[in-house]
Amino acid sequence: MQLFDVYPLFNIEIVKGKGCHVWDKEGNEYLDLYGGHAVISVGHSHPVYVKAITEQVNRLGFYSNSVINSLQQELADKLGKASGYDDYSLFLINSGAEANENALKLASFHNGKKRVIAFKHSFHGRTSAAVRVTDNPKIIAPINEGLEVCYLPLNDANAVEIELKKGDVSSVIIEGIQGVGGIQVPKDQFMRDLRSLCTKYDACLIIDEIQSGYGRSGKFFAHQYADIRADLITVAKGIGNGFPMGGLIISPMFKPVYGMLGTTFGGNHLACAAAMAVLDIMNQEHLIDNAAKIGNYLLEQLHTIPGIKEVRGRGLMIGIEFEDSIKEMRNKLLFEEKVFTGIAGTNTIRLLPPLCLSSNEAKDFLIRFKKVLKA
Ligand SMILES: Cc1ncc(COP(=O)(O)O)c(C=O)c1O
Repeated sequence: MQLFDVYPLFNIEIVKGKGCHVWDKEGNEYLDLYGGHAVISVGHSHPVYVKAITEQVNRLGFYSNSVINSLQQELADKLGKASGYDDYSLFLINSGAEANENALKLASFHNGKKRVIAFKHSFHGRTSAAVRVTDNPKIIAPINEGLEVCYLPLNDANAVEIELKKGDVSSVIIEGIQGVGGIQVPKDQFMRDLRSLCTKYDACLIIDEIQSGYGRSGKFFAHQYADIRADLITVAKGIGNGFPMGGLIISPMFKPVYGMLGTTFGGNHLACAAAMAVLDIMNQEHLIDNAAKIGNYLLEQLHTIPGIKEVRGRGLMIGIEFEDSIKEMRNKLLFEEKVFTGIAGTNTIRLLPPLCLSSNEAKDFLIRFKKVLKA
């Protein structure tokens, strides 16, 4: 059997990781400014994380959601405290797309409405509703087209109000910071406008913090820079530091009904052990403060480098845009300088390192990056 060939692959196989470094099977060491696509939050193979998962799988790997799993409540307690949303409740799933799928459904169950407002260049995942609210027609199959969506420009509160006024909008979904769209940070005032408009027109505000959340922006959630609260918040990626997991954080205004949402694997014992270890490590090692501090340093330094069109971002979620394609530059970074980075579109380098990136590692990155720019 062959693999279904949907990923254009680099000819590299990563077999080992430690902190912000990974090694390929030939033994080459790489500096990881990509975090396996914003997934590695507390660093590769952190001993506390490894111990928690090992001990849990030795005890019990999985049982079903038809019996009590007190690890889920323990996780909810820790997450409530860490995020400032301790009066909200938690529903656990396995991926980011599933988190958004359930958020869109819950909003529609709640207000009985059908239409969704999303934003231009958004990305929310690949399942049916999540992909439909993603602004990329290439990945929307005909079967997904049923859900009625309009994609509005980011930061245009008037356009949002015009649509909301029609009275049929169930939810507005927005990324805390757009990732795939090229690290576009919505204006804080726009986020505040969205909050008040959603309340005014009885639509639910869903904030997708799958990439921008869990400390990456230098606050637990990126939308907390605007000092607002969402109705529904979706998380995944960094929540399990590589263990597949997603979460939906739900305002008390939503009332649960037995059977309304459900999943086989969501919130399993191993995932909970991983997610609790992540929050413990983030807390003990002050990783959110670190993301803010090292992120500010990188942003400051990047702003001084000539030849860059624009530097955007918050914390350790940084976009470096160039006038031209960055394909060759990224290849040089990877194959010559041994630095993993992400991209967005054709002209933007995306930095999404583990949140434990040290100042020496940030300096090391800048040295290697400048070398490639000068070449
Ligand atoms: C903002 C955002 N939402 C949703 C997703 C989908 O997450 P998953 O791939 O875990 O389904 C992603 C993944 O890149 C994302 O960046």
